[in-house]
Amino acid sequence: MQSSQNNQIHLWPNALYRCQSNDWTELQQQILAVCQQRDFSISTLGYTAEQPVYLATRAATAANAKSILIASGFHGEEPAGPWGLLHALETIDKDVLDAVNIAVLPLVNISGFSCGTRFNHKGENPNRGYLALDDGTAISEEGQILLCHQSKLALLGCDGVLSCHEDVSKQHGYIYANEHGEVPSALAVKLRNSNARFFPLHADGLVDDCMVSNGMVFNHKDSSFEAWLFEHGATHTYCTETPGQGAFDQRLLANASMIKTFIEYHA
Ligand code: NI
Repeated sequence: MQSSQNNQIHLWPNALYRCQSNDWTELQQQILAVCQQRDFSISTLGYTAEQPVYLATRAATAANAKSILIASGFHGEEPAGPWGLLHALETIDKDVLDAVNIAVLPLVNISGFSCGTRFNHKGENPNRGYLALDDGTAISEEGQILLCHQSKLALLGCDGVLSCHEDVSKQHGYIYANEHGEVPSALAVKLRNSNARFFPLHADGLVDDCMVSNGMVFNHKDSSFEAWLFEHGATHTYCTETPGQGAFDQRLLANASMIKTFIEYHA
């Protein structure tokens, strides 16, 4: 995406929650409520633009449960991720929740979300600069907060990380998968197929200079949050992309569906 587009404002009516897509006050209230209802513990990793970057965690009741981390809201013009995550936490079966150690970063880039802009209040990209890849992107204020908690986040997401994004310029869905195998795993295919139940998949070719094939960018190296935690031992990490040109409620439901698919796979 061109830098001139990074401060364009993107807002949508959020019919399911009866607010605008950038309503942080409402999202924050709902996140705190669902965490209380579903027995998550909430901590604050740090503050950005005087707002708390939350981490919510919930321990499995089963022994030897997998540990997974789900993050959303790195880019402020991609609000269906955080709202979809909220919806998933509200509606997922308790039996599934009980079977996995789950950690959630519900909204990373609060200032961008509140304004409906891709980058944060300082014009920084919160999903770059986690790895020194010489891609010219410095770490953001939010990224510094997450980097300070590297060992904790790596442990919480050791069995899998999902990061929920959107592509505001697209009418098609796709995903990024970071895996150790030569070909996409069953989980990568399930996530892609969950997206495809809501949106046509991106045609084969280039997306943001990455080769997409069958709706998937496979093992692309960048300095993103999900690439960072893959580098630090997570079994597999994914970034999902719903199309910003699609209907907001469908984008929200697609995010919730992919999040549930991800949790159920590890339960
Ligand atoms: Ni994004």
